[in-house]
Amino acid sequence: MRLLFIGDIVGKPGRDIVCGSIKGLVIKYQLDLVIANAENAAGGSGLTPAIYRELIRAGVDGITLGDHVYRRKEIYSVLENESNIVKPANLPPESVGRNWAILTAPNGERAAIACILGRLFMKPVDDPWKAADRVLAELPEDVRVRLVDFHAEATSDMQLMGRYLDGRVSAVLGTHTHVPTADECVFPGGTAFQCDVGMTGPFESIIGRRIDRIMETTLTGRPTEFDVATGDVRLCGTIVSVDSQTGRATAVERICVTEADLPNLQVPASLA
Ligand SMILES: [Fe+2]
Ligand SMILES: [Fe+2]
Repeated sequence: MRLLFIGDIVGKPGRDIVCGSIKGLVIKYQLDLVIANAENAAGGSGLTPAIYRELIRAGVDGITLGDHVYRRKEIYSVLENESNIVKPANLPPESVGRNWAILTAPNGERAAIACILGRLFMKPVDDPWKAADRVLAELPEDVRVRLVDFHAEATSDMQLMGRYLDGRVSAVLGTHTHVPTADECVFPGGTAFQCDVGMTGPFESIIGRRIDRIMETTLTGRPTEFDVATGDVRLCGTIVSVDSQTGRATAVERICVTEADLPNLQVPASLA
């Protein structure tokens, strides 16, 4: 089974490159499922029902979120009613949304997804390690393909979660910093790992926002609007090949799609 996990989709530029490339990527890389972190998809923070539907229509099969999960409260209804979107699993038990989801590929094979927040340099949340244990205890035993999005700030935290879950899930892939790391590998127990998959959005920016605005606020203390930037839009993603019988990852590949790649990823209407 081949899964593409797309890193934090930031605003309209991020959505546009996802929508413009995803069907082509599915064909080019022979993907069974596409999962995306959409915590920044609405104007750079949060997710709305309309944008959820836009991403699903474009070909995203499952969605993970992060610390901005509830930034747009319109998303509550989607989190309550849809079966292919997860909130972070270490928020309070009363929080809206599901802690894991099962996705079914066109060939009938299934995969579980979950996301968990880190605690280092982030707002206080429940213990991520215990949350991971809880999710794994709840997952159906026969769903061997399991992907965890660890949404964390510190690479040490990310490596620790990768090692903690090695041999228990197919992949631990990081999000949240918006900067892709070059450390993708398969750990000895069969878990694919990467500290951070990177952002899907404008790289001519400070992690997706206009450089001049962040600079002004930082240098002068004056508040500004941190609008989403527009230049050098890239899709950062990581493809994991998994033995669906055992759940062990067999390969991991980092991809980066730029705007210049889009013409080569167009799919004839007959195949779309
Ligand atoms: Fe993010
Ligand atoms: Fe985040």
